[in-house]
Amino acid sequence: MSAIESVLVENRVFPPPEAAVRGARIAGMAAYEALCQEAERDFEGFWARLARENVQWTKPFTRTLDESNAPFYKWFDDGELNASANCLDRHVGTPVENKTAIVFEADDGAVTRVTYKELLARVGRFANALKAQGIRKGDRVIIYMPMTIEGVVAMQACARIGATHSVVFGGFSAKALNERIIDAGAVAVITANYQMRGGKELPLKAIVDEGVAMGGCDSLKSVLVYMRTPTACNMVAGRDRTFDEVLQGQPDACAPEAVNAEHPLFILYTSGSTGKPKGVQHSTGGYLLWAKLTMDWTFDLRPDDVFWCTADIGWITGHTYVAYGPLAAGATQVIFEGVPTYPNAGRFWQMIERHKVTIFYTAPTAIRSLIKAAETDAAVHPKQSDLSSLRILGSVGEPINPEAWMWYHRNVGGERCPIVDTFWQTETGGHMITPLPGATPLVPGSCTLPLPGIMAAIVDETGKDIPNGAGGMLVVKRPWPSMIRTIWGDPDRFRKSYFPEEMGGRLYLAGDGAVRSADRGYFRITGRIDDVLNVSGHRLGTMEIESALVAKTDLVAEAAVVGRPDDLTGEAVCAFVVLKRPRPVGDEARQIANDLRNWVAKEIGPIAKPKDIRFGDNLPKTRSGKIMRRLLRSIAKGEAITQDTSTLENPAILDQLAERL
Ligand code: PRX
Repeated sequence: MSAIESVLVENRVFPPPEAAVRGARIAGMAAYEALCQEAERDFEGFWARLARENVQWTKPFTRTLDESNAPFYKWFDDGELNASANCLDRHVGTPVENKTAIVFEADDGAVTRVTYKELLARVGRFANALKAQGIRKGDRVIIYMPMTIEGVVAMQACARIGATHSVVFGGFSAKALNERIIDAGAVAVITANYQMRGGKELPLKAIVDEGVAMGGCDSLKSVLVYMRTPTACNMVAGRDRTFDEVLQGQPDACAPEAVNAEHPLFILYTSGSTGKPKGVQHSTGGYLLWAKLTMDWTFDLRPDDVFWCTADIGWITGHTYVAYGPLAAGATQVIFEGVPTYPNAGRFWQMIERHKVTIFYTAPTAIRSLIKAAETDAAVHPKQSDLSSLRILGSVGEPINPEAWMWYHRNVGGERCPIVDTFWQTETGGHMITPLPGATPLVPGSCTLPLPGIMAAIVDETGKDIPNGAGGMLVVKRPWPSMIRTIWGDPDRFRKSYFPEEMGGRLYLAGDGAVRSADRGYFRITGRIDDVLNVSGHRLGTMEIESALVAKTDLVAEAAVVGRPDDLTGEAVCAFVVLKRPRPVGDEARQIANDLRNWVAKEIGPIAKPKDIRFGDNLPKTRSGKIMRRLLRSIAKGEAITQDTSTLENPAILDQLAERL
């Protein structure tokens, strides 16, 4: 085995501590295997049982899975339910009713608490306000909100009246917002005047105005504005109203609208391998089942837990493990408005101590940046905080490197908390491959084994199984309830992106490479195999960034974007650019690179800013004109080119592109 391979093989194994196994919902591997076998033996019966036990149906389903129009699968499709009723009303008359649902900590440290009963009233009242605006079942509503209780209320209120929400992360640009309003045909935007992050007041409503002014938003009738801060913002007469105005006189009670299990609960845009983001459409019944069940299984949720998922509601993690899952499961959860480094990089650890968090779920990028901070400033080291309340740790969004895993395990988990490294995607709706805290022996850097009922496998390009130990493409062989239903308005793209004909048209292609260990069959995700990048756990399409760059038509002739490994952000964006003017050097090059970075931030959002920009007279192309991205990836990494460059039209260009600014 070569030296490079051997560092990738991880042989440390951490069996679940006795305390984690005791009383666990899935206690021990035999219990896990029994569930897997139940799913193998009677796939539909398994899911039907879970759907009956975990979801409250206003009309029970009689059909579990309809595969007649595969890959457009339907689950529980003659059943009816309401997602908000399943998160709130279900707890009425139970001990959960008076339990704290949300502990909200604002950027400035102010803490607000709401009980389940209070949350139900707030959601009901807001739902009535939406109805008074003329918003109806099936309408699409864009939510462009900061992390607040109001953000969750807005999502729940849409669900309550059967409106399909589409949350846009508060860091996305006016242009991104404009495209999403148009694509979704949204009738309303729910936003805030400003958001508070790291002590700064950042505009949201102004970005909505800018986005709408870009044109094409003919479907849009109203903009509802939460006044997060006292600062006034522009209000368009007849279109814009504050929350106070629309809530005025609305009663708390709002009967939940029963919808079909397949009714689209939400659309969430994510990056794919073309320039246009995909509107991932999720169902109500299947999605909710998995949100609730994975809370119970993956986090082994118990009645007195305090759950904290640090993800923003603008991402899928914030949908499933902030807005829906914890509420459906009756958990107390922490919601945090701010950033992990304000007022100092010990904020997460201080908050865990303050709120006695028992389950903490965050992204490897956050962990890596807090490791760096703790190494340079002992005052923000986790050991300065009392983290003894913690019971389970989670990781999500990108591969966690074994060093970061070990640090998390030692310094945050005190070597007693299992780490659940959860692999999943916007499209999967909830966890797919993850350890179970009371059962699975952990291996750092591995998401271990699929949840019961999730038929994950690794195959080659033709869909044939690959033996353990060899790398291939990650697929899921059978549908599962919380899977993506379609791409909003583009069923053809759905089929082609996820169920390629070359593999027989029935395997769900995740878009990730993976390998299973020879000994345990554990999965390790090796990264995307398509043109999708993962920067700080945020998903970005290389083509999206390329389109943004070439949209600067006065300056840019051509651009190619690739990812390169980065110690802190996992991957970093590297752009190779050909200008419509002679190749710049020195200060001029640095200035133009900076302008282009800001341009990309305006086109997509600051998260998409290229870290590296290199200028060339041309890009490396084959004689037929195809850009050789393979070479660009090597250059971006700073590797010597060892690949065959004989098919290259212009080999001299490589040295030029290797020059850093
Ligand atoms: O590449 C995988 C990576 O994130 C991608 C999905 O991104 P997104 O749809 O934004 O959802 C992120 C939150 C679920 C995947 O295709 N990814 C996610 N979780 C992991 C991961 N890679 C390795 N390990 C994980 N635990």
